[in-house]
Amino acid sequence: MTQTLTLRRPDDWHLHLRDGDMLASVLPHSANHFARAIIMPNLVPPVVTVKQALEYRDRIVAALPKGAKFQPLMTLYLTEDTDPADVTAGHASGDITAVKLYPAGATTNSQSGVKNIEKVYPVLETMADIGLPLCVHGEVTNPEIDIFDREAAFIDKVLDPLRRRIPGLKILMEHVTTQQGVDYVKSVDEGLGATLTTHHLIINRNAILAGGIRPHYYCLPVAKREGHRLALRQAATSGDRRFFLGTDSAPHTDLLKENACGCAGCFTSINTMSLLAHVFEEENALDNLEAFASLNGPVFYGLEPNTDTITLTKLDTPVKFPEKIETGAGPVTVFDPMFEVFWAAA
Ligand code: NCD
Ligand code: ZN
Repeated sequence: MTQTLTLRRPDDWHLHLRDGDMLASVLPHSANHFARAIIMPNLVPPVVTVKQALEYRDRIVAALPKGAKFQPLMTLYLTEDTDPADVTAGHASGDITAVKLYPAGATTNSQSGVKNIEKVYPVLETMADIGLPLCVHGEVTNPEIDIFDREAAFIDKVLDPLRRRIPGLKILMEHVTTQQGVDYVKSVDEGLGATLTTHHLIINRNAILAGGIRPHYYCLPVAKREGHRLALRQAATSGDRRFFLGTDSAPHTDLLKENACGCAGCFTSINTMSLLAHVFEEENALDNLEAFASLNGPVFYGLEPNTDTITLTKLDTPVKFPEKIETGAGPVTVFDPMFEVFWAAA
């Protein structure tokens, strides 16, 4: 008998859509399965004002395939010059769903991010007052800290002090990659959540480094040891409302990935739902997939879950995903889980 699973339509709580030709090529894949997504603001130049966010939202909506229903939830890129009044206005009008903190230098296009967290405390205090969440790229950038330790160091040096200083601020720790991140989120009952990516549930750092360097598995935060991956899988598949899906699908062209200084990011929007069904089945947790992909995120953001549904069907033969998609900017390699996947999503 064919196994099927019907879920409320999922949302993607961390997504890079880029702009221009790339936007037009990758957006249909997200709109295919997801109803809403939190849109990352790390364009060049970054989306720092409400005006820029609205213009970007218009470009996204204009690039949607005919008839597609997809709601981009906009974020502002926090800088040391962010105006609390602009943030307040964007929240009041309902146009801004969150503000994104990039420590300067932590990842792709983060140069305009925050160097000194003290400088943004006023705007963070305003956000706590009005109830606007802060999405956090949780890695320190100090060159003396090993890249595999940067998330754990961020929790101790930045996140925990920030939470003590502004206890009312709602924080989302994005793309958690470590046991320490999972433990920290579990230690807090209210006001702290975490997104987990699809690829961090599937690969550990061997995928990037063992048997040759494989740039398509390089993303930030970088995948860690196996023990961390197992902690992420436990958190994702547990049903715990504090953990939910943010794919962090982050397309870069092959030219920029297969490069002496390759860009960070895995492109997963096209196969995420199939891969998640595979992972949750492996963990005997298919019953919790809906919580992870469709229910927990809306609870964190104070939104209703979607009313329509998506159906996952387990086939007898593997689902074939393209190895690459063509974009106006050049080919983009699709994340390869290195195993066959039998779950089709529609
Ligand atoms: C993202 C990108 O390319 O914009 N890359 C990544 O590896 N995840 C940035 C980010 O989310 O860190
Ligand atoms: Zn990201």
